[in-house]
Amino acid sequence: MSQTFSDTVSARLDGGVLVVTIDNPPVNAASADMRTGLAGALSHASMADKIVAVVITGAGKTFVGGADIREFGAPPVGPLLPEVVAAIEASDKPVVAAINGAALGGGLEIGLACHHRIVSAGAKLGLPEVKLGIVPGAGGTQRLPRLAGLAAATELIAAGRLVAAAEALALGIVDAVAEGDPVGEAVAAARRLAGHSPRRTGALAVPSADPVVVEQAGVRVLAKARGQQAPVEAIRLVRAAATLPFEQGLAEERATFLRLRDSTEAKALRHIFFAERAAAKVAGLDGVEARPVRTIAVIGLGLMGSGIAVAVLDAGYNVIGVEQTPEAAENGRQRIAGLFDRAVKSGRLDAEGRAARLARLAATAVMEEVAGAELVIEAVFDDLAVKTALFERLDAIAAPHAVLATNTSYLDPDQLAAVTARPERVLGLHFFSPANIMRLVEVVRCGKTAPDVLATGLAVAKRLGKLPVVTGATEGFIGNRVFSAYRREAEFLVEDGALPHEIDAAMEAWGFAMGPFAVFDLAGLEIAWARRKRQAATRDPSARYVDIADRLCEAGRFGQKSGRGWYAHAGGKRQVDPEVTALIETSRAAKGIVVRAIPADEIVSRLLAAMAAEGRALLDEGIAARASDIDLVMINGYGFPAHKGGPMFVAGMG
Ligand code: 3HC
Repeated sequence: MSQTFSDTVSARLDGGVLVVTIDNPPVNAASADMRTGLAGALSHASMADKIVAVVITGAGKTFVGGADIREFGAPPVGPLLPEVVAAIEASDKPVVAAINGAALGGGLEIGLACHHRIVSAGAKLGLPEVKLGIVPGAGGTQRLPRLAGLAAATELIAAGRLVAAAEALALGIVDAVAEGDPVGEAVAAARRLAGHSPRRTGALAVPSADPVVVEQAGVRVLAKARGQQAPVEAIRLVRAAATLPFEQGLAEERATFLRLRDSTEAKALRHIFFAERAAAKVAGLDGVEARPVRTIAVIGLGLMGSGIAVAVLDAGYNVIGVEQTPEAAENGRQRIAGLFDRAVKSGRLDAEGRAARLARLAATAVMEEVAGAELVIEAVFDDLAVKTALFERLDAIAAPHAVLATNTSYLDPDQLAAVTARPERVLGLHFFSPANIMRLVEVVRCGKTAPDVLATGLAVAKRLGKLPVVTGATEGFIGNRVFSAYRREAEFLVEDGALPHEIDAAMEAWGFAMGPFAVFDLAGLEIAWARRKRQAATRDPSARYVDIADRLCEAGRFGQKSGRGWYAHAGGKRQVDPEVTALIETSRAAKGIVVRAIPADEIVSRLLAAMAAEGRALLDEGIAARASDIDLVMINGYGFPAHKGGPMFVAGMG
């Protein structure tokens, strides 16, 4: 007989053990109803004589995915999660967590307050709150150090790193990894523990630790935190666990949680969390099935193509890598093997995994072999004549049902689709370099792309572990269109009086890891130069045009690769180059521009406004489906700081 405590919490009695199940799809979040139900179940257990112990578990594949993030915008509603968690820990009858799947944030905090934890082998555990700009708010910063020690807790909480079951066991976060059904094993453990006084995490002492090791853990995390508040606060709270009485530590944690929850940083990161989920919902694809894909041909095994091949092999597909000559194919194979070698060296891959991936790769100079692929991704030189010729050829060779994808950055994929007899099976898959690392893929819906073909592009990108964002076909798609507007405004600023290093300093102080000119130099100046030359004939002569970048390229300054660009580069460092400053001054003078000092806040606001205005245009043209898609592209492809929420969010359009 099962008993109901709320819409989302029910329980059944299993020989004296009350097995409480949280069933709040999709991720069993700790909503107000769930908290009410859980509190009710605990109070029932404490009063019913026939109940000797309690097991808490989740329905489906998640234990508890955390606090309900959708409630964060509103005032908290009781019972609060810390109160429920405190009731679990205070229970006189043993409470065992049967962690059947992901236990994240508030979910793990529920687990940490239980007196015993059994986890299924595939579960992931963690306190990823910092990724939402907050700290744990239900005891995580005070209980985790008591189980895992200060150094591990610092790293896990301040970096928001998740751990698998085996590591959780090794760190002392859980007591056992279930061999079979975690609920059955938890019930058995609960029976064993019944009648004994429970082991309360909050009553444990924080294990003593070498202060240097703890300090180093914090330093490592902060090196990547780039001015964000939450990791700093998380480190402080974990350390407080060792110095403050437990209750005081909890109070400090809760106050910090509430303060951060309402910060702009947290709002921005919540926006990104929901933006990522929204991007997966594409109009017109409801109920549309992706086509089956097992083998993917990658044409061109240069830097981009080999990165794509690695991502595709990592995801378990077979790859046919095509190059123009057998030597180039062999070089491509070696480049791919080299990337796997690096993964082995850094411990991300083992030798067996490397061998299995390479066994799924066929590198060839025989184009006809693409006939064996269900999806062909071309990553050859970004030139319309080259790509058009290739698409005509691919159309003749590829299997009739196969999907053809272009990785072009700037060309119009509709023009490529038009030279084939299968325009409905053509789309763009715009990867970012290095393609095996970068998460973003712009999935370009061409004029005639069929819904199941778009769904196939999305499904493949998802299986590669990427973040796919759908864009319409336009020169530069979403990202390069916005980035071009950013570049244009940055160059206007230079003409108006700011020097590149001043602009970079302003943007870096605001939150970018690299300012625009450092990025231009890193990416190389020649592609934009070639584009400007291509567009020269059709450019509106009355539109403002800055020619400084052209002068740099004419002087052989192509960026970091050539040692010189907007900066002089030596020994991995960028330096202001007087030659560039002179060139800028000459150019300004030639146009008769009256130079003025531009303050950092004006630099930042002009650059952000330029991005947002281009984003607005993309929405008006129907190229981007929603403002939040633009934010995702700029954050994941162009280094826009995630904790600022993206250019549209900053402009109040997110
Ligand atoms: N609150 C509310 N909704 C949530 C949620 C949460 N904590 N976690 C996920 N969801 C929603 C998503 O928005 C999505 O909704 P949609 O279908 O309407 O778009 C749906 O659940 C499914 O989410 P995913 O697409 O992410 O599903 P996956 O199966 O890929 O992943 C997951 C599941 C691993 C649980 C993942 O959703 C996740 O990482 N969630 C966030 C975990 C997290 O950050 N928890 C901490 C919250 S803060 C907290 O707990 C504070 C506490 O200390 C007091």
